[in-house]
Amino acid sequence: MATNITFHPGSVSTEERQTLLKQKGVTIWLTGLSASGKSTIACALEQHLLHLHKFTYRLDGDNVRFGLNKDLGFDEKSRNENIRRIGEVSKLFADASCVSITAFISPYRQDRDFAREIHDKAGIPFVEVFVDAPLEVVEQRDPKGLYKKARAGEIKEFTGISAPYESPEKPEIHLNTATTDVAKSVEIITTYLTDKGYIQ
Ligand SMILES: Nc1ncnc2c1ncn2[C@@H]1O[C@H](COP(=O)(O)OP(=O)(O)O)[C@@H](O)[C@H]1O
Ligand SMILES: [Mg+2]
Repeated sequence: MATNITFHPGSVSTEERQTLLKQKGVTIWLTGLSASGKSTIACALEQHLLHLHKFTYRLDGDNVRFGLNKDLGFDEKSRNENIRRIGEVSKLFADASCVSITAFISPYRQDRDFAREIHDKAGIPFVEVFVDAPLEVVEQRDPKGLYKKARAGEIKEFTGISAPYESPEKPEIHLNTATTDVAKSVEIITTYLTDKGYIQ
């Protein structure tokens, strides 16, 4: 824990930054089982928003584990720390007026609530999106063959099989990807952002 540190405020206010950049920062937090469609939707959403000339960036599970979080595993404590860091990083991006899209299983409610809480405290919007699909469906998709390995006992602590997934209780957006295609999911999220005035 660092001591003797003082927060140094900037010379540009949040409002001024938002006016200059013509958008408000927001974190769009995608959560759901592996293969529920988080990365697919995050990519399509990022592309769509960039084509609308919105400052957008995506933080994706595996990608972040190659760098910032390469020291972390998949036990509960490591997953907590993984999500804590992502929450902080996404908050920084959103503070920079970016539409920050995160795509992490983030199975524990407490971790997602922590991410929400630090955004709330900073007055930055946090949009929890439950990317939902039944286990049978995601297990059928299994694009990386991970469920097969988990069923065979080759992967320990696999969410949905041998580790818990705590569904969001009150997500801002609930997508059922078994019945909603990628384009529709992107449209639902974009409409939400526009209705809230985060993007124009
Ligand atoms: N409606 C849908 N929305 C998102 N992905 C879908 C949908 N239907 C099928 N898929 C497929 O499901 C898989 C989801 O994988 P991915 O996006 O990597 O999931 P996650 O990031 O949640 O682990 C992809 O192969 C994608 O093409
Ligand atoms: Mg993914």
